[in-house]
Amino acid sequence: MLPAIALDSGSDTPLYRQLFEQMRDHIQSGRIPRGERLPATRELAGMLGLNRATVSAAYELLENEGLLKGHVGRGTFVEGSGEPASRIAWEDLEPAIGASSPALSLGSGGISFASSRPDNDLFPMAEFRSTCEEVIHGDAAAAILQLGSPAGYQPLRQYLLEEARRDGLAGPMDDILITSGCQQALDLMQRALMRPGDCAAIEDPVYPGLRGVFATAGARLVGVPVGANGIGIDALERVIGIERPRLLVVTPNFQNPTGATLPLSARQSILRLAREAGVVLMEHDIYGQLRYEGDPQPPLKQLDGSEDVISIGSFSKIAFPGLRVGWVIGPRALIRRLAAAKQYCDLHSDHLSQAVLFRFAESGRLAAHRARILEAGAQRLSAMLSACGRYLPEGSRFTRPQGGMNLWVRLPEPLDAAELLPRAERANVNYLPGKYFAVSRVEQGGLRLSFAGLDPARIREGVSILGRVFSEELERVRAVSGMTPSPALV
Ligand SMILES: Cc1ncc(COP(=O)(O)O)c(C=O)c1O
Repeated sequence: MLPAIALDSGSDTPLYRQLFEQMRDHIQSGRIPRGERLPATRELAGMLGLNRATVSAAYELLENEGLLKGHVGRGTFVEGSGEPASRIAWEDLEPAIGASSPALSLGSGGISFASSRPDNDLFPMAEFRSTCEEVIHGDAAAAILQLGSPAGYQPLRQYLLEEARRDGLAGPMDDILITSGCQQALDLMQRALMRPGDCAAIEDPVYPGLRGVFATAGARLVGVPVGANGIGIDALERVIGIERPRLLVVTPNFQNPTGATLPLSARQSILRLAREAGVVLMEHDIYGQLRYEGDPQPPLKQLDGSEDVISIGSFSKIAFPGLRVGWVIGPRALIRRLAAAKQYCDLHSDHLSQAVLFRFAESGRLAAHRARILEAGAQRLSAMLSACGRYLPEGSRFTRPQGGMNLWVRLPEPLDAAELLPRAERANVNYLPGKYFAVSRVEQGGLRLSFAGLDPARIREGVSILGRVFSEELERVRAVSGMTPSPALV
């Protein structure tokens, strides 16, 4: 017998899609077991009061996902031959710590504000292909195919380190390690530095990938609230005094998710606090090169005279996240330790990606690409800010970043961004609600809007739809509470 299927003919999601999604959930959760024979399309259409074509379309999607298989003359079966005979209760494994990414679902043509990543349409494909050709046909091609140093592809290391030294971002005693994106740099820091129970002070709200790395490793996480000017200095001072963290991770520019940037005075205070307490300070500056307006602030690493600040960066936001190339710059002894930890993870990062990015940068193509994405980013940010001002319901607040990919919205009370997400998705727009970024406190009305992947027209369209969804709910709640007698009268 099939588990319950409830379809909503008033929804904006087509019926075949609703049926597909619900059956997929039932199959993936095991409620419809593998090997089960499904009713024929005509039969199921009759049971659910649907058109037969609707059921056929849902079956076709399930078949495309490898979840169903039709056998001529026998019927349609859930893929697999009965329950697999596993002796391990995989489903009962401890869940990963912290809220994992939500299962977002948008129909085709949907507008997603959920991903903090560059726009595929802005990738310079011709330049990328030429770069790959040059690398593959170059003298170093054979060496690239061989195993190499865990520290990374030497020409890229040298290029990045020289650039960092020129910009005052690396001192004579610093070294560099190439990692598989910033994400691996965070993980290696956790492995090399933290012991179980050590405290890491991190921003709250924060990029979930950072929280997850330290939380799954057993670190004690303390969130320091982020305001319009980045991490709060008074709160940080209290946290450092009480919790004695071993590590402090700070995003100086266009923090994910808030878009906040630290002013100079806050940067100086952070350096002083970390120095006085002997806390290891990690500057997580993945968005710093995406400034669309205003003057840049000096990096913490540059302001610090002692070379103790560790800086991590990546090509993911300014070029191609799929190539997975990032780096850590820090004191030589630490870099040696991180390289040793990296060796146990993956020996070294992929040479071809590193060689391609090195050639892309060295040839001047990266600078040209960056100029184009800065221009597009400025237009997108401006479209985002004006659309938020125009369409979000009265009482909403939002940050005003001068760069990066994200801004943070606070909906008026009592709206709950997580509760409203399914409704927004039915209108074919999505975003990430605040709970995915929370460390110590969840902002119920908080949500992140990522704007870098959408052109200005889509941004306006998407925010106007969100504005309608939020405003309708606000009106509904207000109407209901207006009708409820005040406690003083009953
Ligand atoms: C703050 C932050 N850190 C790290 C990452 C992951 O970066 P990478 O692709 O370099 O691993 C992201 C990506 O969204 C991010 O926003």
